Amino acid sequence: MPEDHFGEEIAARYDDPSEELFQPAAIEPVVDFLAALSGGGAALELGIGTGRIALPLAQRGVEVHGIDLSSAMVARLRAKPGGRDIPVVIGDFATARAEGTFSLAYLVFNTIHNLTTQDAQVACFANAAAHLRPGGHFVIEVGVPQLQRLPPGERVRPFAVTPTHLGFDEYDIAEQGLISHHHELVDGAWQAHSVPFRYVWPAELDLMARLAGMTLVERWAGWGREPFTSDSRDHVSVWRAAS
Ligand SMILES: C[S@@+](CC[C@H](N)C(=O)[O-])C[C@H]1O[C@@H](n2cnc3c(N)ncnc32)[C@H](O)[C@@H]1O
Repeated sequence: MPEDHFGEEIAARYDDPSEELFQPAAIEPVVDFLAALSGGGAALELGIGTGRIALPLAQRGVEVHGIDLSSAMVARLRAKPGGRDIPVVIGDFATARAEGTFSLAYLVFNTIHNLTTQDAQVACFANAAAHLRPGGHFVIEVGVPQLQRLPPGERVRPFAVTPTHLGFDEYDIAEQGLISHHHELVDGAWQAHSVPFRYVWPAELDLMARLAGMTLVERWAGWGREPFTSDSRDHVSVWRAAS
């Protein structure tokens, strides 16, 4: 089982309504996009966490299931209204099996990067495909690797510099890995934690999808279907399983 980087301390402060990604303006377009794609069928969220997306999607009438490694995150989901109605398997979304067949599987908020080897990311695509009905869709939201912003010879880049949060990404280009280092001011004391990731390119994801019998059908720069260009920082990609 991979290491759980979302233990009690992280889970306790994960849902921060002041953060942009937790506000309705960020969540509604995601839910619109996913609800339309589910086409009335069931949806499976890989890395469901505290239900930031799963709960509003369920409130739209979509039957949502989830897989997550972190019991602490899922406990937060359970404590929210409607949270107990969502079946969740505690396990690794690269390998764990949820009961049922789904129209839609989705993995948002850069969480494919939490799988730190190419083998695990390939296995995740195979696992998503194994849960889909013929013609079902798999959606990923993830950043485009920001290597153009890293000057030659440098390997550390700041991503957060605020009075309460200092964050630095440390790149290992040869291994296609990065470690995000966080220093956060919590109750007047600085706390540090680091999380390892494997960044992955859009074309590499397409190949993983192809290995799992899926084909790219849409790629956007965001949930509002903004065009994906050479300058895009993120992408929302949709692959379809064979009919
Ligand atoms: C950044 S959070 C995203 C949670 C939720 N999807 C959201 O959008 O708010 C990543 C979640 O993925 C889970 N996770 C990370 N790696 C995982 C793995 N290999 N298998 C299952 N869950 C994993 C973490 O426990 C955490 O709940």
